[in-house]
Amino acid sequence: MTQIGIIAGSLRKAAYSKKVATELTNLLPVQFEPVFIDISQLPLYNADLDESVAVPAWETYRRQLDNVAGFIIVTPEYNRGTTGALKNALDIGSKRHNHWKHKPALVVSTSPEATGGFGANQQIRQSLVTLNVTPVQRPEIYLGHVDHLFDDQNLITNPDTIAFLQTAINAFVKLQAKFQIGETEAPT
Ligand code: FNR
Repeated sequence: MTQIGIIAGSLRKAAYSKKVATELTNLLPVQFEPVFIDISQLPLYNADLDESVAVPAWETYRRQLDNVAGFIIVTPEYNRGTTGALKNALDIGSKRHNHWKHKPALVVSTSPEATGGFGANQQIRQSLVTLNVTPVQRPEIYLGHVDHLFDDQNLITNPDTIAFLQTAINAFVKLQAKFQIGETEAPT
């Protein structure tokens, strides 16, 4: 089984980004095991605290990043960027050593607005460049009107939306296979 880290950028219990993340895991082929990585308990990054003995919650989280073969990141948009919680998680994972590097990712943004969290999506992609994470380039997933997507079982019912998400998962699986067989460039 190939473990994939699933990270949702919202801490809210009923977050649409968490529901979308769950839907995406349902579309993964059976050889992939989704591992939900909880970022809600991570203290804010402070380099002073990282100098001697690291904060236990950071170390546990970093091990979770190390143990997976790729990431599915679903973010809402806060003020045209990602959430503070998710940016904090990106930062913590980049220190001691870069726990993200040389892995593939699928970046999905969500919003009740028509813009679909474009700003948040792009902000994460910008950070992934320096973290040496390779995102699926296309399809780009800006999931607008997310508040209208789910039925009362928290399932997406629109077949076109499901088909679109499946194309993104398929692209991620294809990209991940390249990493598995070493077709991608060496990490730096
Ligand atoms: C928002 N929201 C929002 N939406 C958007 O499309 N663009 C934005 O810039 C913002 N900015 C913003 C800032 C803050 C502080 C909050 C709390 C909310 C609305 C946001 O998309 C909406 O609340 C989502 O439902 C949040 O995502 P989850 O928690 O449902 O995943």
